[in-house]
Amino acid sequence: MNTAPLQGIKVVDFTEVQSGPSCTQMLAWLGAEVIKIERPGVGDATRKELQFDPNEPSYYFLQLNSDKKSLALNAKTPQGKDILTKLIKECDIFVENLHPGAMEKLGFGWDAVHQLNPRCIYGTIKGFPESSKYKDLKAYEPVAQVTAGAASTTGWFSGDYNIPTQSGAALGDSNTGMHLTIGLLAALCQREKTGEGCYVYQSMHNACLNLCRIKTRDQMTLDRIGYLTQFPQYPNGKFGDCVPRSGNTEGSGVLGWTYKCKPADGLDSELDANNYVYVILQRGAKDFELACQGFGFQDWLTNPDFNTADARDKHKDQVIARIAAWCADKTKYEVTEILSKYAVPVGPVLSTKEIMTDETLYDGNTLVKINQGGNIGEFVTVGCPFTMSNYQPTYGPCPTLGGNTEEILTSLGYTADEQAAMKANGTTAPLPKPAEPAAPAAPAK
Ligand SMILES: CC(C)(COP(=O)(O)OP(=O)(O)OC[C@H]1O[C@@H](n2cnc3c(N)ncnc32)[C@H](O)[C@@H]1OP(=O)(O)O)[C@@H](O)C(=O)NCCC(=O)NCCS
Repeated sequence: MNTAPLQGIKVVDFTEVQSGPSCTQMLAWLGAEVIKIERPGVGDATRKELQFDPNEPSYYFLQLNSDKKSLALNAKTPQGKDILTKLIKECDIFVENLHPGAMEKLGFGWDAVHQLNPRCIYGTIKGFPESSKYKDLKAYEPVAQVTAGAASTTGWFSGDYNIPTQSGAALGDSNTGMHLTIGLLAALCQREKTGEGCYVYQSMHNACLNLCRIKTRDQMTLDRIGYLTQFPQYPNGKFGDCVPRSGNTEGSGVLGWTYKCKPADGLDSELDANNYVYVILQRGAKDFELACQGFGFQDWLTNPDFNTADARDKHKDQVIARIAAWCADKTKYEVTEILSKYAVPVGPVLSTKEIMTDETLYDGNTLVKINQGGNIGEFVTVGCPFTMSNYQPTYGPCPTLGGNTEEILTSLGYTADEQAAMKANGTTAPLPKPAEPAAPAAPAK
């Protein structure tokens, strides 16, 4: 039995860059047939962004477009519109993330698509919610992060580096794609009952803000009492009117910090300085007692400055300084090993290289190797981030630009002659470049 959850679901994928493609790739991994529409001769912009070889698609593209089909199609030509119309009439989901207004200009906004195929679910990604004053802005990752409270609360809170800072995680891009995926799957369930497709609008802003929910918790608390106990500013520093950048504060009620360790052999160089570990002191008395045993700090158990969570919050400078000294002569792995025996929440700061060379993570989903063939060979990507007890995604290669055009057009009923004509008129292949004017003849001597 084929247990692929989206088996039989057809997706017309009019997305590019990262946000939209991350969503449609997930749909493909869940078993949907995904047809990626790409501009003839140009394709998804990421094909040629950050390439390791000028003749090959970049890892950026490869990591976001596995298991899709590629149809080279100029949706601005009359025949391009005809092809797209036919595809929409037989698809279950249409997804796009062009700049605001572009899809309507092409004639394939929600209203038009809904009229063509009322069962079709329409997923769209834009930078901002429709109610926002910024709704017409184009958006990339940092735009989402700076406008959704992520950047203003990330980074250092004092000194020269007190600058709003981006997270390395793609909160605005892939996170938005995952949020849209939730909306589309919900819409598919809804369609079971209503028989009709709906419009799923997902902004990068909302996806990012959804992950900044606790910052709104902090703002309300700050507005009420003027301080936040989990921040280094408490109890002796100053708070302004806004939630500060959190540095390495854990962010909830537990006391966490990043501590510098002895470099681990061959891993933590001056340039790759990841010799740090994150250690958390939980609030409960039993957890704290265990932690004290792990550190050998039993004196804290009877000291009123440290033996309750509230007291530790008030003396967090001293707590952090003592743990920092304890970590300094151990590697991040040694700290992790020692403290984990005492049930202390702890984790080494791992570089991307360490993660990618950890063979235990090649478990079929966490990290996966895809064989693209040709000069590219094998590449690594992050697989479907959840597992299902009765379904295992398979991870196949990415399409070449327009690699499935003939197959798709034939399935739509276009003859070989019609397909040749569409290639020649710029609908499915780039128009030939006009010939360069001949260089003027050299003057006779
Ligand atoms: C990412 C973004 C900033 C790029 O903007 P952009 O450079 O203008 O690129 P777009 O792909 O949106 O559109 C460029 C043009 O190509 C056209 N185009 C794209 N695919 C096409 C196709 N297959 N056939 C014909 N035209 C096509 C669009 O219609 C648009 O034409 P227009 O400028 O005449 O309206 C913008 O698409 C955006 O803000 N998207 C929403 C948020 C988002 O998803 N951001 C990306 C995060 S990874």
